[in-house]
Amino acid sequence: MSEPIPLARPVLGEPEERAVVEVLRSGQLSLGPRLPEFERAFASFVGAPHASAVSSGTTGLHLALRAVGVGDGDEVVTSPLSFVASANVVVYERAHPVFADIDPVTLNLDPEAAEAAVGERTRALLPVHLFGYPADMPELERIASRHDLAIVEDACEALGARHRDGPAVGGRGHPAVFGFYANKQLTTGEGGMVAMAEEALKERIDSERNQGRAPDMGWLDHDRLGFNYRLSELACALGIVQLGRLQEMLDARAVAAARYREALAGIEDLGLPCEDAGGDRRGWFVFVVQVPRGCDRDEVVRALAADGIQSKPYLPAIHLMSFYRERFGHREGEFPVCEDVAARSLALPFFPEITESQIERVAERLRAIVSV
Ligand SMILES: Cc1ncc(COP(=O)(O)O)c(C=O)c1O
Repeated sequence: MSEPIPLARPVLGEPEERAVVEVLRSGQLSLGPRLPEFERAFASFVGAPHASAVSSGTTGLHLALRAVGVGDGDEVVTSPLSFVASANVVVYERAHPVFADIDPVTLNLDPEAAEAAVGERTRALLPVHLFGYPADMPELERIASRHDLAIVEDACEALGARHRDGPAVGGRGHPAVFGFYANKQLTTGEGGMVAMAEEALKERIDSERNQGRAPDMGWLDHDRLGFNYRLSELACALGIVQLGRLQEMLDARAVAAARYREALAGIEDLGLPCEDAGGDRRGWFVFVVQVPRGCDRDEVVRALAADGIQSKPYLPAIHLMSFYRERFGHREGEFPVCEDVAARSLALPFFPEITESQIERVAERLRAIVSV
């Protein structure tokens, strides 16, 4: 078998090693100076006034939802085509995720479907910038203001993306949550960041990530319910270094995406990620194709694996997962666009250092497999 090609691989080198060793030698492994340094640098990268570092994208989404006031019995309108965490966090607060179908081109929440899903108990919209492509925020903001709803953005996959009306994803003011798992554009191993405009939201999130402690309180004094959702100094040190090389890594992902597009051209009925349109710009995270209808996607995964090429069904529809079926009574056919995409989508190996010849090998194999 030829050399294996992994699905994802972070870019980590000596600068990261040095930064982590420095923290170890300092003896301060949590709540040290790297936390505010990372937060400030990140906020400035996305053009947000404030940012709060947290232990993961999931915990960031949880705190952001609490901060905008989502609670028991509320409804939150969101996309069924996402990583399961964006719906789970709603359930954490005993609120109800209400799904609306996606746009077949961008694969993001369809604003019209989202507005149709708004009801009396709706408290917030939770759009996801899926696969790094910006959701239609100008339209979703109009809907939110018509119905007096809060917005929390799931930007876990969209670092480096930009909206057609100017701001970077994360810079519109609503809490926008990023994730730093090892496959992301920037990684701290595990980690996340909430970017936002309002200082009061940052204060609440900073307190709730740290067991409910106010900044001026003593170590074991807590004035509200909180969690341990802190990000360690080791992770913050990694994040600072990764941020320094972020633009370079984003550019390398964009080059890899352009090469894939070229290498996969002409495969009949293969769906490719939508191109940037109308001024929206993708922050490249994954390269997800949709296999032609009638082609068995899971068989494609197995055939690629037999040649040492890792790929993954990405993503399954959330409403059809057994927990969501059982808890909320969902069934097939509710969100046809999402279900069609989810059944055919396939993430191919994609990372900044993927080589041209690796891309060509993936494309060649994929072409042979789906053309039989
Ligand atoms: C769209 C989306 N939302 C939420 C998350 C959750 O982030 P984390 O894994 O850092 O908790 C992820 C990350 O995998 C994601 O892709």
